[in-house]
Amino acid sequence: MYTFIMQFPADFLWGTATSAYQTEGYNTNSDWWYWEKGKYPKSKRKAFIGETSGMACDSYNRYEEDFNFAKNMNNNAIRFSIEWARIEPRKGEWDQTEVEHYKKVIKAAKERGLKTFVTLHHFTKPIWFSKLGGWLNPFAPKWFANYAKKCAEEYSDYIDFFITLNEPQVYSLQAYWRATWTPKIKCKLFALISQLTQIKAHKKAYTAIKFVDNSAKVGLSKHIVRYERVTNDRGKASICTKLVCKVLHYLTTNFFLDPIKKHLDFIGLNYYFTAWMKNFKEKNPEMESSDLGWILYPEGLKHILLNLKKYNLPIYITEHGLADAWDQKRQWYINESLKFVYEAMESGVDVRGYLHWSLIDNFEWHIGFWPKFGLIEIDREHNLTRKPRPSFYMYSQICRTGKVE
Ligand code: BGC
Repeated sequence: MYTFIMQFPADFLWGTATSAYQTEGYNTNSDWWYWEKGKYPKSKRKAFIGETSGMACDSYNRYEEDFNFAKNMNNNAIRFSIEWARIEPRKGEWDQTEVEHYKKVIKAAKERGLKTFVTLHHFTKPIWFSKLGGWLNPFAPKWFANYAKKCAEEYSDYIDFFITLNEPQVYSLQAYWRATWTPKIKCKLFALISQLTQIKAHKKAYTAIKFVDNSAKVGLSKHIVRYERVTNDRGKASICTKLVCKVLHYLTTNFFLDPIKKHLDFIGLNYYFTAWMKNFKEKNPEMESSDLGWILYPEGLKHILLNLKKYNLPIYITEHGLADAWDQKRQWYINESLKFVYEAMESGVDVRGYLHWSLIDNFEWHIGFWPKFGLIEIDREHNLTRKPRPSFYMYSQICRTGKVE
């Protein structure tokens, strides 16, 4: 039988991704920790319910072990984040010990031959910043840019790709629309304001980093959902459905990317799922889904990439993965998705890397530890032992050969 082998370019970046709060443990100066500890806000309705992060995966201490796994998986790139609250625990005060800690972390990745994608803000913020209103405070962009400048001054020699913000719109929706994350305020206006503030924050941080190191590569990680139309027997969708998909597409892509496109050296894309819309309602077909019930639709990735082509910027897929505790669908999902990435590249989209979420199982925010996103299992009963899943070995082959079939 004839099998078509897709050979990715030799300089394609293959990697894995994590974030600080989800893996490090004991981020005691972060707002999420404060919330977990029931200190803030006081009202019952806004209290934290669920599993707390605790020592997470202890990656604060075990980062070298984690990077060794990435290297053994033939990764040539890695994404992780700096916990802002550690290095600026009080406004304008740098904790030099923590600054040095992250220098060691980033250097440890470089020493293992990994290109570094370093996120400056992955959802969690210092307590002082949140107490001042977080992304609702008009001075927030200035404070964030100040922190970004510090990171550039300290680390720009070792950071290959700066990611200013991770999924800014997801943060706004969770905090102010669905009100599932602290500060849990249901207010559409706040959801909008916090997005606009983050647009400004990205621009300011971009300028601040470039001021320190003009050759630095700066982008952000944007979560994009693919919206498909539910059609009738004749393959037609209603006008309302078409309109709804257009608006949602605009909101999830152009609304945020258009104003910052001149302040981007690359686009980081996070893709997890596709949603099928029938008028104003989501009506997903019966399809493969993850342990979290997210529809696994590899083709969606190609559609999104084709849509991003208009920005004329290099694209790195900075997150893509699934919760799959028994590792039954991960190999299929990675392989199929990469085929669609390849097809998008054949159609002229400048995709330069793929970073799988996640290297290790980690703290899935308000849902706790049960969703298992890792290529490596973390045995929480036995000293957080790292155990590669079968898909680890499969992905390591792809990373080594650059071949997908
Ligand atoms: C976030 C990660 C999260 C992952 C899976 C992304 O939206 O950046 O922090 O763990 O999705 O939910």
